[in-house]
Amino acid sequence: MKYRKLVENAVRPQGFWGKLMIRSMNKGHSELTDWALVHIKINRDDNVLDVGCGGGKTVSKLCEKVGNGKVFGVDYSELCVEKSKKLNKNNIMCAKATILQGSVSALPFEENKFDIVTAVETYYFWQDKLNDLKEIYRVLKPCGKLLLVFEMVTSEEKPHKWDKVENLLGIKAVSKEDITDILLHAGYQNIRTYSKSSTGWMCVTAEKE
Ligand SMILES: C[S@@+](CC[C@H](N)C(=O)[O-])C[C@H]1O[C@@H](n2cnc3c(N)ncnc32)[C@H](O)[C@@H]1O
Repeated sequence: MKYRKLVENAVRPQGFWGKLMIRSMNKGHSELTDWALVHIKINRDDNVLDVGCGGGKTVSKLCEKVGNGKVFGVDYSELCVEKSKKLNKNNIMCAKATILQGSVSALPFEENKFDIVTAVETYYFWQDKLNDLKEIYRVLKPCGKLLLVFEMVTSEEKPHKWDKVENLLGIKAVSKEDITDILLHAGYQNIRTYSKSSTGWMCVTAEKE
């Protein structure tokens, strides 16, 4: 019961269980995010967007990497926006970070705004993945980069590893082939996948033309 309540709140955290889930995600995704961020070059003056920013931990990591650049976080959960703002209050006060409520399907930004867009452990929940990737493409600058980060990756050695979560949430673990294919269809180029065999993690980088 507790497990179910907690996991269900990964989709769109709200209420008591949402608060617990946000705390658990900030902690539980930190190492995964650090590993993934190594695969993308972030310049000191970059404009970066973190989509599905959850409790805002990735936003705070990105703020440490950009000097006079800006970091935006977007999440469609009101509670996540509140918690992200709290965690990043100093960065918000000095106008380095901005947290907004919004959906990946209709990002509240003009086109060609971001050098980098990150999305950690959120892709599985997107309702219209092809169009959502196209929406991110729209807000990326030419040659801008997308970094997608996954813990739920299909595995030949452990084919049932994610069955329980998949059935509970109605989502699917991703495969290297599927993610490459959909990114190509969405118009991205220079798609690269990286895996960490000891954990099964995967991250993908892709570029706007
Ligand atoms: C598993 S959590 C990951 C949060 C954070 N990225 C992290 O690594 O801790 C998934 C997040 O994606 C957000 N999310 C899911 N679908 C979304 C959508 N269509 N638009 C914006 N945010 C979304 C959820 O509200 C939730 O905060």
